[in-house]
Amino acid sequence: MLKDFVLRSLPPKASNYFDSLFEAADVLGQIKNVNVLRSLGPSGVRGLILHRGKQGGPTLVPANHSAYFDWTYPSDQPEMRDLFQRAKAGQWDSDKDLPWDTNVDPLNPQRRLLPANFIGHDVLEKEGIVLSEKEKRELDYSVCAWMLSQFLHGEQGALYAAAQVTEAVQFFDGKLYGSTQVMDEGRHVEVFSRYLNEKLGRLYQVNDNLFVIIDALMGDGRWDMKCLGMQIMIEGLALGAFGTLYRVTEEPLLRELLKRVIMDEARHVHYGVVALREHFKTAITPAELQERVEWSYEVALLMQNRFLAYEVYDEWFAGGKLSREAWRRVVTNSPGMNEFRTVMFSRLMPNLRELGLLPGRILPHYERAGLLKYMTGKAAPDLTANEMLTDLDKHRGGASASMMA
Ligand SMILES: [Fe+2]
Ligand SMILES: [Fe+2]
Repeated sequence: MLKDFVLRSLPPKASNYFDSLFEAADVLGQIKNVNVLRSLGPSGVRGLILHRGKQGGPTLVPANHSAYFDWTYPSDQPEMRDLFQRAKAGQWDSDKDLPWDTNVDPLNPQRRLLPANFIGHDVLEKEGIVLSEKEKRELDYSVCAWMLSQFLHGEQGALYAAAQVTEAVQFFDGKLYGSTQVMDEGRHVEVFSRYLNEKLGRLYQVNDNLFVIIDALMGDGRWDMKCLGMQIMIEGLALGAFGTLYRVTEEPLLRELLKRVIMDEARHVHYGVVALREHFKTAITPAELQERVEWSYEVALLMQNRFLAYEVYDEWFAGGKLSREAWRRVVTNSPGMNEFRTVMFSRLMPNLRELGLLPGRILPHYERAGLLKYMTGKAAPDLTANEMLTDLDKHRGGASASMMA
């Protein structure tokens, strides 16, 4: 109450500043496990309060792990070796395999980047913001460019995390597989960067919450935490976001690009599950497992509630037209973001189950967050990329239609 009063009585710029501080305190204050707080807290301060990803220049993020050398070159993990072979065969060349000559007009209503009601213009109207048809298309353009910018920043994190896990992991077949993932992530950085630069002409800064997760992974010396964070959590987020956009966009180049990336990402999550399943069963203590249970829960909450496109808000509404609180309501209730959360958690929760990270005692917390219903689907090792794409295609008409309304 006091908070609302303070925020309302300040001018817009100061109100936004304090709102972001209250929000950071909320995020960090909800973490109960001391080890999880130790792992995420410093990254939270760097990302949410110091905005280290938004300094306008390069960011130096300290890394902290040991490279694990094995001079005997064992063939030790058949499933990882198989993924390595499949990854070699599945390499593609973005120059040759994507139709870059496609003419992309981000404002063309005949070939929409996003469906008409992805962001929820009716929800915006309830908050007192009435946009013309042209402004609505421009806002959709901003939101799409924002999403793709976050994909690109996530891919940069994935590139470095994949390189670090490749160095640090103890499975030799995991290292061979990891070398292909480094190449995959390099290609993903290439294609998203090229699409944003050549076709949309926009690049948004990294979202602070995404920065927090990436920063925490880079600095954690434990390979399995890097792997859990990147291969399971962020890749789950990526599959949710890529899947949603693939399902709803009418822009053919973007659709083809996403399809190719999804096929690579499916392998990455599969590897994460295979590598961690064994490790969690045999190589860590019950207390260490508990830390991972709670860490993944906190990160799941961050992913569920915190990707709120403030970078778009700052561009469009920060001058006092709309409060940050009202914007949160708009994004939280947006049909497109709801769809994104559904696809993301349908991918993520079965993988957490498969890894033993959903023991009975944590389930009530997931239930309260509304996430338990996603627990029963197929985990990554049982789900091929083609099945995933077929499933997305099957629901394509319905999802687009509901958002076109
Ligand atoms: Fe990627
Ligand atoms: Fe990936």
